[in-house]
Amino acid sequence: MSCHKSYITTPIYYVNDVAHIGHAYTTIIADTLARYARLIGQETFFLTGTDEHGQKIEESAKKRGKDTKAYADEISATFRNLWDEFDISYDKFIRTTDTDHIKGVQKAFSVMHERGDIYKDKYKGHYCISCETFFPETQLVDGEFCPDCGKSTSIVEEESYFFKLSSYEDKLLAWYRDNPECILPKSKRNEVIRFVEGGLNDLSITRTSFDWGVKLPKEFNDPKHVMYVWLDALMNYVTALGYGTDEVNMEFWPARVHLIGKDILRFHAIYWPAFLMSLGLPLPKHIGAHGWWTRNGEKMSKSKGNVVNPKEVADAYGLENFRYFMLREVPFGGDGDFSQKALIDRINSDLGNDLGNLLNRLIGMSGKYFKGKVESDLVEIYYKEELKEVEESLSKLEPYLFELQLHRYLEELWRPLTVANRAIDKYQPWTMIKEGKKDETMALNGLIATILAKVSLMLHAVMPKTTTTIANALGFEINPENFNKIIREGEVLPPFTIEKREPLFPRIEEELLVEKKPEVKVEPKKEKKKEVENIALIGIDDFFKTLLKIGTVVDAKEVKKSKKLLLLQVDIGEEKPRQVVAGIKEWYSAEDILNTQVCVVANLKPAKLMGMVSEGMLLASKDKNGLCLIRPERPKVNGTPIS
Ligand code: MSP
Repeated sequence: MSCHKSYITTPIYYVNDVAHIGHAYTTIIADTLARYARLIGQETFFLTGTDEHGQKIEESAKKRGKDTKAYADEISATFRNLWDEFDISYDKFIRTTDTDHIKGVQKAFSVMHERGDIYKDKYKGHYCISCETFFPETQLVDGEFCPDCGKSTSIVEEESYFFKLSSYEDKLLAWYRDNPECILPKSKRNEVIRFVEGGLNDLSITRTSFDWGVKLPKEFNDPKHVMYVWLDALMNYVTALGYGTDEVNMEFWPARVHLIGKDILRFHAIYWPAFLMSLGLPLPKHIGAHGWWTRNGEKMSKSKGNVVNPKEVADAYGLENFRYFMLREVPFGGDGDFSQKALIDRINSDLGNDLGNLLNRLIGMSGKYFKGKVESDLVEIYYKEELKEVEESLSKLEPYLFELQLHRYLEELWRPLTVANRAIDKYQPWTMIKEGKKDETMALNGLIATILAKVSLMLHAVMPKTTTTIANALGFEINPENFNKIIREGEVLPPFTIEKREPLFPRIEEELLVEKKPEVKVEPKKEKKKEVENIALIGIDDFFKTLLKIGTVVDAKEVKKSKKLLLLQVDIGEEKPRQVVAGIKEWYSAEDILNTQVCVVANLKPAKLMGMVSEGMLLASKDKNGLCLIRPERPKVNGTPIS
């Protein structure tokens, strides 16, 4: 899979959260690919940035009492600063609030519309007010009546523009079929195929329930609508190259690879190629979906309070050691649990023992026997077998990298180090020199230097500074020209003199970061006051501190071991449903509550109930007759605020 131009992207990160190691992981993989592509002489464009529109961001800002754009500026800058501190070699940092991006998205909307792929319609659903449930038309009795209670249903509507996603089903399936590597790892491609084969509905691509988004192009004369965040966000991959404005960098399109996490695969593998087909643009070569970084088996997220801060890890253990660890530890596509122990093992063993120590051995032996001089011209004569083994490993590397099998890449790259360490033990230079075998001993040092040089070049994209230090010690520079000479053409290193230096990877004996225990707040005991009496009056501002929203229960399960709890997924108009653990089982079964609308307290601190995280609370009222949920009198769009 050879390309002359390499366009590599990360997802654009939401500005409602600070970066954690999950974000750092995607960015580090992308940075590694970009650095490697540059080193082999390809013209490379590496894009990252921030995703700043949508209700979620608007609300995050509101919660903090901040102006939305000012808030987005602030968080976007924290991402950019972190990537700068991490020496991420991005060529452009895009923000979806950039004027050019907005123009590009509007242009795309017009083009899709001209192609006949966008139409205006209404969200339609048959709703039984009595049962508070939507029913598909096929389930209605006589096309009108509720299959449960027999009462007449009514149709609920909201205006929206739709993208004709359904008409791209066959074309998408053909793309997956004809390009077996379009989604990596390949197992993920099958999941996507199965999903698309299940049928695609047209996609609602505008919203009227909030404001913070890209407006429709003027000619639509429809100011109520803003664009769906995913249409806006996905377009960043081409607007960053100038799509819709100054198309200076469009020659980099199509992307060589979009790196993403597995949770956003559907958006990238279904919506995005369909949008591109509609725009008449070529499709990306690969979409690479990695797994989750977890903490004690749980997905990391701010709401769970188990987030690992990448800056703290890098400061404590070294940025490049951290990069190596992330790429080496987990097979791409799989989940990985972050632990300091695993990180320390990698540093002490792979980096310290195998790599750092090899350089030390070379320094020691050449210092002792040859005053630091190393010559490599006789390596081929004395150590042909070893060289062959090294070349075999090296020839496998590049495909592993571009197939995103980074752990394999690094695993295979360590074989030459094993060859070198083994050769020292086998040939015993201390004996050879005593026996007067000077040439053989010098050639052995040459072999080690050659291996270290090749490994440095191939490891450069992962550990740029460390490998530069090694190359300096070996008297050469890491650049595309030397990559070509030493890796591609197998040239030997010119003679050099090596000097004593500090070890590259000092041994780490104990964990360097203090584990944060979740804060347990001890609330002062309050006297239980009689109801009604002593009600403290609050201002309207206090009331608005509680964010209340209408939502629909899209999944409901009984919590087996509990008499009281139901485990609910409630769609409150966000990207993903909220998980709510509700103590209502005595009054509602899972079946009762499924597909009904409820009122949700949406800004409560998440809490754990029987080991399950609850991200909200339902409004309810209880008297001597039992508990009933508070619900909207008429169906409302999910996410509608309650005031
Ligand atoms: N804004 C969207 C992406 C739009 S791209 C056109 C988004 N942003 S995000 O900030 O929520 O997530 C960004 C990336 O971080 C995603 O690829 C996501 O998979 C990844 N991760 C978030 N948490 C993660 C872990 N705990 N582990 C690994 N990656 C995870 O989605």
